[in-house]
Amino acid sequence: MNFKIKSFSEYESECNRASDNPEGFWSSIADHYSWQQKWDQVLDWNFTEPNVKWFLNGKLNITENCIDRHLAERADKTAILWESNFPDRDSEAITYQQLHYKVAKAANGLKSLGVKKGDRVCLYMPMIPELAIAVLACARIGAIHSVVFAGFSAQALADRINDATCNIVITSDGLYRGAKTVALKAIVDLALEQCTCVKSVLVKKCTSDPVAWEGGRDYWWDELMDQQSASCPAEQMDSEDPLFILYTSGSTGKPKGVVHTCGGYMVYAGYSFANVFQYDEEDVYWCTADIGWITGHTYIVYGPLLNGATTMMFEGVPTWPDGGRFWEIVEKHKVNQFYTAPTAIRALMTCGEEVVNRSNLSSLKVIGTVGEPINHEAWEWYKRVVGDNKVPIVDTWWQTETGGIMISGLGGHSPQKATFAGYPLPGIQPCLVTPEGKEITENGVEGLLCIKHPWPSIIRTTYGDHERCRVTYFSSFEGMYFTGDGARRDENGMYRIIGRVDDVINVSGHRFGTAEIENAINETDFIVESAVVGYPHDIKGQGIYAYVICDKPISDFDQARKDITAMVVQEIGPIAKPDKIQFVVGLPKTRSGKIMRRILRKVAEGEPDKLGDTSTLLDPAVVEDIVKGAH
Ligand code: PRX
Repeated sequence: MNFKIKSFSEYESECNRASDNPEGFWSSIADHYSWQQKWDQVLDWNFTEPNVKWFLNGKLNITENCIDRHLAERADKTAILWESNFPDRDSEAITYQQLHYKVAKAANGLKSLGVKKGDRVCLYMPMIPELAIAVLACARIGAIHSVVFAGFSAQALADRINDATCNIVITSDGLYRGAKTVALKAIVDLALEQCTCVKSVLVKKCTSDPVAWEGGRDYWWDELMDQQSASCPAEQMDSEDPLFILYTSGSTGKPKGVVHTCGGYMVYAGYSFANVFQYDEEDVYWCTADIGWITGHTYIVYGPLLNGATTMMFEGVPTWPDGGRFWEIVEKHKVNQFYTAPTAIRALMTCGEEVVNRSNLSSLKVIGTVGEPINHEAWEWYKRVVGDNKVPIVDTWWQTETGGIMISGLGGHSPQKATFAGYPLPGIQPCLVTPEGKEITENGVEGLLCIKHPWPSIIRTTYGDHERCRVTYFSSFEGMYFTGDGARRDENGMYRIIGRVDDVINVSGHRFGTAEIENAINETDFIVESAVVGYPHDIKGQGIYAYVICDKPISDFDQARKDITAMVVQEIGPIAKPDKIQFVVGLPKTRSGKIMRRILRKVAEGEPDKLGDTSTLLDPAVVEDIVKGAH
């Protein structure tokens, strides 16, 4: 697909083309893909309901664009390059031809278990090729995949399965993560005690650890695939049929299922990948995310495959066997585009430059970052030590809800400024508004980041609850999508993302609602109430600071902390463990009973002298106790 922009002046003219005529622009981009039937209207939208539809009545199957269309010219090109958790194990290269074969078999396997178009399929899997294959197999038959990151607990998995009423779960016996193994199937078994909707469980052998087995419900992946035909015609999908659901946390309630649809998501995933990463035909591209997050969906699976790229999947972790693992892989596979998160960069910085310098990183052409604001020090280190001061950095800002990268440089073509994501992609119309909803038009300002016009991969709804989608994203500022982020725009119009302005915290690039963690903590039997805030953390970006009130005086604080942590691990997963737990006798509340989080944040940030006005508190004495007991 030759929609790759090749210079900054071309970028500027594409931006003008897109703003003069958004529909004409996106229609010309969509023309690069194969459609079974062309759309008859490009866009229908309003941000009040909201109702956004792109490429109306267009018919397609995204897997034909990811796989079939490449067979003529790239049949033997590696589509997925898989690197094991263990450095001494062989990598696996799956060509486009082989991917076609494997996806067809998996699609037929799903069909043989009764899965049909529109059904929801839950994927709870390690970073093995079968995860990508399962994603594509769902898309092939029009089933809606809901990938749940394999670090979530049985309870979190059960909540997501039930919310989407999935009737099948695909998993593995276990997974490897560095030196650890996790018994995934056992977690699924536990979750399913709460899920009557699930009729089948498909299990890929990965660790070969023994598993409990429920006949008639559980099937081995390999045995099922052996029986399948390798031909599976692609289901015809409407542009606006859902492609997947992906759960993400917001400031209130349980995580919500963000829904993306087939046509618009495809158009934007492929377009943004080609342009941000400036992928060339022979390149090896590596995104270190997990497919359990949106980054993995769009920039490990769909975006690269739509472009006929070689995309790498890594099963392991950056710091095992040591902090040189990423760099050894870059050298081994001569990786050209490398895309990771600030938290990984910060963790690897602590391992020292020698560890990076052991490997030859001269293949790198673009290095990217995503998921949270990158601090100056990490940006400079990435640029100098990994990028040898010459490889361009793309700091890509986007969200689960945006489906693809919204603000970022395009490879080496865009001006670069440390910690700034930069300019929006063509067709993206960000703006800054005041808390009162007034657009700020001048430069050199800070404000709340909104988007004024729909783009093809914008969230369509939150699964099963459209009202929640409206309230969360479209009700704060009339006629705009509100991102939940604050941003700065410099004199030249470049954007720097400051971070969330709502009760969402970003811990190692993982998104949590503070309410979600509080609800988990409150399940502990001796906890009466809790309040969670984020605070700056050297490696994680933000750490989790929990203030808790117990129903009786605690004698063994260590044990109490362990019990609370265990409850969070049980309810959400180890990724949501609080970093600090402070026992308090009361929380700072206003007379109307609202917790003043500003105060808790300041204490957690170690700035108790900057609490501001506390006169509206019901009991200002509470604050003194909190300040005294702070960590
Ligand atoms: O706060 C922003 C932050 O991550 C949030 C979205 O999280 P999630 O939906 O999990 O998606 C992460 C991967 C796309 C945003 O609201 N964020 C994401 N990218 C950046 C960022 N903050 C600063 N700079 C970024 N490049």
